[in-house]
Amino acid sequence: MKILLFGKNGQVGWELQRSLAPLGELVAPGRDDPDLCGDLSNLDGLARTVQTVRPDVIVNAAAHTAVDRAESEPELAHVLNALAPGVLAQEAAKLGAWLVHYSTDYVFDGGGSRPWTETDTPAPLSVYGRTKLEGERLIQAACPLHLIFRTSWVYAARGGNFAKTMLRLAQERERLTVISDQFGAPTGAELIADISAHALRQCLRQPHDAGLYHLAASGETSWHGYANQVLALAKLIDSAIKIKATEVTPVPTSAFPTAARRPLNSRLATSKLQSSFALALPKWEQGVARMVGELL
Ligand SMILES: NC(=O)c1ccc[n+]([C@@H]2O[C@H](COP(=O)([O-])OP(=O)(O)OC[C@H]3O[C@@H](n4cnc5c(N)ncnc54)[C@H](OP(=O)(O)O)[C@@H]3O)[C@@H](O)[C@H]2O)c1
Repeated sequence: MKILLFGKNGQVGWELQRSLAPLGELVAPGRDDPDLCGDLSNLDGLARTVQTVRPDVIVNAAAHTAVDRAESEPELAHVLNALAPGVLAQEAAKLGAWLVHYSTDYVFDGGGSRPWTETDTPAPLSVYGRTKLEGERLIQAACPLHLIFRTSWVYAARGGNFAKTMLRLAQERERLTVISDQFGAPTGAELIADISAHALRQCLRQPHDAGLYHLAASGETSWHGYANQVLALAKLIDSAIKIKATEVTPVPTSAFPTAARRPLNSRLATSKLQSSFALALPKWEQGVARMVGELL
């Protein structure tokens, strides 16, 4: 089996290189690859790459993920998050191939406190959310053999992340202020990649499991709760760590104005994923503890 992966150097893409490797031959063109186009902004090049590789599965982990910057570059976000997945879906359909793709809790407006299900009506608040939603719809229209995973608050030990920022700031400052009115579940790139491989294997045998799924660690927290957990874990793992911050002050979203509006309720209901693929999603604290352990 041949798998064509886009976005190999992102948080999720990096972990997919590991989790997909046992499933078959992995072809992962970089963004500046001279032979195979891996640049999502080059739609013709992207189609040519699929036609050349002729994969059984395309996995797209690349996206315009800079949520605030997307507000000032909506055309680019539209190409990367909507048109490019649309092209991949059309090319996959011509080959009878699968397309695995990632979307976001930001397709919802964040109202209420109930976890969002796959059948809830999306109403994105930002360019990022709108373009990601259009990407989902273009895939659904063009390629029946798809797996779209909506996930939330993704982190990985590799690269920059919220936990690293909190650890650094807590060692520099007496007091941290962190948003306490946005709720969701921090979800590890490792978990997303492992579940993607597992679900894909099942779908290859049972194509009727194709569809849209919510994928997030279980439980919920706010950014404030997440920060507190990271600092508590850091103290537990490394008693010598010099945490200066004695206080983590909860503040509302309005305390940190940003270009893009973010949903307050990012909770995702994952029972469809768990029952369809016989999976149990671990608590968010479990993956965060592992990541903090790797950082320290
Ligand atoms: N991060 C989150 O909290 C979050 C939450 C919900 C859903 N998601 C979704 O999950 C998926 C994976 O996200 P992630 O956190 O792994 O993102 P990420 O770490 O920001 O990685 C995105 C990747 O896309 C690549 N990329 C950007 N522009 C490209 C282009 N023109 N051509 C080819 N590649 C390009 C980037 O390449 P460079 O490294 O070269 O820039 C990067 O490797 C995305 O679909 C995202 O929308 C993420």
